[in-house]
Amino acid sequence: MGLNVIMMGPPGAGKGTQAGRFARERGLLKISTGDILRAAIKADSPVGLRAKTLMHRGELVDDATMIDIVRERLLQPDAQPGFVLDGFPRTVVQAEALDRIVAERNNGPLVVVDVRVPEKELVRRLASRLICSKCGANAELPKAGEPAAARCARCGGELVQRVDDNEQVVLERLKVYERETKPLVEFYRDRPTFRIVNGAQGLERVAHELDTVIDDAALVGAKEAAAEAVKAVSPEKAARA
Ligand code: AP5
Ligand code: MG
Repeated sequence: MGLNVIMMGPPGAGKGTQAGRFARERGLLKISTGDILRAAIKADSPVGLRAKTLMHRGELVDDATMIDIVRERLLQPDAQPGFVLDGFPRTVVQAEALDRIVAERNNGPLVVVDVRVPEKELVRRLASRLICSKCGANAELPKAGEPAAARCARCGGELVQRVDDNEQVVLERLKVYERETKPLVEFYRDRPTFRIVNGAQGLERVAHELDTVIDDAALVGAKEAAAEAVKAVSPEKAARA
C-alpha cells in the first residue's frame, strides 16, 4: 500500500525542506508545485509564461492549471509507491480534485500534516533565505557559530534571494495563505489521518515529530481502509466486528 502525504503550512514553514528529506528517506516521489512552476518559468514554457507575473506578485496560479500538473504527475509509474506533496493543494477546489485523484489511484490513504510556525518566524526565515541560481535548492542553514555558505553546497552555483522573498511579496503571500489555503485545515481537520506538527523547532526535532505522526496516521488510515474493504465485501461481517 502506498504512503501518500501532503505537507501543508504557510510560506516559510519548512514544507520544502521536510518534504524533500522525508521523500528521500522513504524512497517516495516529492512533488513541489512551486519548484515545478519555477522550472517552467526558467524554461519559458506556456505554463511558465502564465505563472510568472502571478508568482512574482505572491498570488496563486489558477486551479485548473495546477490540478492538471499534479494529476499528470501522480498518475506516472514512479508515483505509485507513494508521494509527498509540497505546496499542493492550496485551495479547497484543489483539495477536492486531489481526493478524486487519490480515489482513482486507489493506492493507500492520504496523510495530511499541517506544519505550524508563528508569523514573525516565517517572515524572519523568508527574509534571510537564499536559493541557488543554478539548481534552485535552498542554501543550507549555517551551523551555530559558523558563517553562512557563499555558494550552493550541491552544485557550487551562486546563491541569490528568491524573487518572491522580498518583504512586500512575502506579506502578500501570507495574506493569500490566510484567505485561500488556511480554510483547508477545516476541510481536513475531521479526518483520522490529519496531524499538526510544531514547525518552530530545530530541523531535527521537526523531522522526528513529522516521522512519528506520519507513521501513526498511515497506520490509522490503513486500518480504516481495511475496515471499509470488509464492509464492501460483507456488510454483516463488518457489523459484527
Ligand atoms: P512555493 O514555492 O510552494 O512557496 P511557499 O508556499 O510560499 O513556501 P516556501 O517555499 O517559501 O516555504 P517552505 O514552506 O517550502 O519552506 P522552506 O522549506 O523553503 O510557491 C510559490 C508560488 O508558486 C506561490 O506563491 C504561488 O504563486 C505558486 N504556487 C505554488 N503552488 C501552487 C498551487 N498549488 N496553486 C496555486 N499556485 C501555486 O524553508 C524556508 C526557509 O526556512 C529556508 O531558508 C529553510 O532553510 C528555513 N527553515 C526550514 N525549516 C527550518 C527550521 N526548522 N528552523 C529554522 N529555519 C528553517
Ligand atoms: Mg517551498
